[in-house]
Amino acid sequence: MIDKFTTDKTAELVIEGQKYSLPIIEGSEGEKAIDIRNLRQDTGYITLDKGYMNTGSCTSGITYLDGAKGILSYRGYSIEDLAENCSFVEVAYLLLHGHLPTDDEYQHFSYLLGRFALIHEDMIHFFDHFPPNAAPMAILSSMVNSLSNFYPEMTENPLEDIDIMATRLISKVRTIAAFTYKKSMGSPLVYPRHDLSYCANFLNMMFDSPVKPYAINDDVVRALNKILILHADHEQNCSTSTVRLVGSARVNLYASISAGISALWGPLHGGANQAVVEMLEDIYESDGDYQNYINRAKDPSDPFRLVGFGHRVYKSHDPRSRIIKAACDEVLDTLKVSDPLLDIAKELEEVTLNDEFFIERNLYPNVDFYSGIIYRAIGIPSNMFTVMFALGRLPGWIAQWKEMWDDPDWRIGRPRQIYIGPKRRPLTPKEERKKRESDT
Ligand code: ACO
Repeated sequence: MIDKFTTDKTAELVIEGQKYSLPIIEGSEGEKAIDIRNLRQDTGYITLDKGYMNTGSCTSGITYLDGAKGILSYRGYSIEDLAENCSFVEVAYLLLHGHLPTDDEYQHFSYLLGRFALIHEDMIHFFDHFPPNAAPMAILSSMVNSLSNFYPEMTENPLEDIDIMATRLISKVRTIAAFTYKKSMGSPLVYPRHDLSYCANFLNMMFDSPVKPYAINDDVVRALNKILILHADHEQNCSTSTVRLVGSARVNLYASISAGISALWGPLHGGANQAVVEMLEDIYESDGDYQNYINRAKDPSDPFRLVGFGHRVYKSHDPRSRIIKAACDEVLDTLKVSDPLLDIAKELEEVTLNDEFFIERNLYPNVDFYSGIIYRAIGIPSNMFTVMFALGRLPGWIAQWKEMWDDPDWRIGRPRQIYIGPKRRPLTPKEERKKRESDT
């Protein structure tokens, strides 16, 4: 099979003396892959790659990352430039369309975000029927799946108007997230406002109250924009691959995103940001004795891992964690918050960066390591941290889902396996099995 990235180079594969020639594909940043699409048909073999350590599931023009060099870019723009110079809404547009919006495009996209900010009033009753301590990620995933019942028109021809499709979700998920928090506090809901920017609107829905109006702080709004941009996409990670896989069965966008939210919930993925702060709190409560945690992480007989360290792809610094660390200092400074967890986090980082165990395994702080400390400073409780991650990742999920729908080579995602169960065997009739049981 030939596509536009197929080179004139080939890889030679020899199986039991028989030679096969496999095409080599090269991406725009020089990443190389052996195209095995015809492998099973030509050789009878499949490849086995548990955890997809070496498997490319698609070609994509959205996000590039080089884990060895610590590089991340969206649509060709470096994450550092985007985080410094753009708003989250601009980056969402960039991910979806491949270019930064013109003034008119930005105005229209923002207008749609405002227009679609409400959720159907009947959905608000859903919140009343979750148990009081329901996990916000479970609520979010259920509510997003339910959107398909309230806004079914998008499910029929989802690509008809990508801006409508995307802004509906991006705007409503923000409202659902804020309402989830308000309901968990037993506080009155604060509805979205047309005159506020995306992030300011979210903060206002979260923290405004009839008895204490929320004062929007521009520095906090800027920090939130930055964090959401850093989370906006990360190529084929666990939740994004889930969105693509579920969507490949041609289910509607809401159901695909709801599945992605469930994947993100996992403590090895997006759930790590909450787990980091819980770990730092535990360390603080044990008089700052982080060495015990480091020792446990290094002990091969202990399953404990230092949360917020390590990454499947980055074997160098995660560029996002550097930006978040700097933002963390800025926000705490602006809000005049002194958080002992930040001091513990910095000490932990310092010690691990000089520890052979972590050096040998290329374990550096990841994006989740400092984000929770910013959220705490803003007033967002730890059980909402992964919801914040989902809010940020939404434009990336939608862009990846759209790219998959648009792909002329689209196929339903269906990996194979190597069966290791019992060989085919005859079934013993029920009567005989009963007889054997009574004999024993
Ligand atoms: N603490 C201590 N040791 C670790 C850690 C850690 N956080 N992460 C990996 N290791 C060790 C492993 O024990 C293993 O050691 P070994 O070779 O002696 O057996 C080695 O490093 C390689 O680990 P793998 O599990 O093979 O790495 P993998 O790429 O599969 O896992 C993962 C990546 C899941 C992120 C892992 O580093 C981890 O569990 N980190 C903690 C959870 C976390 O922070 N997750 C958030 C990731 S970022 C995100 O999803 C947005």
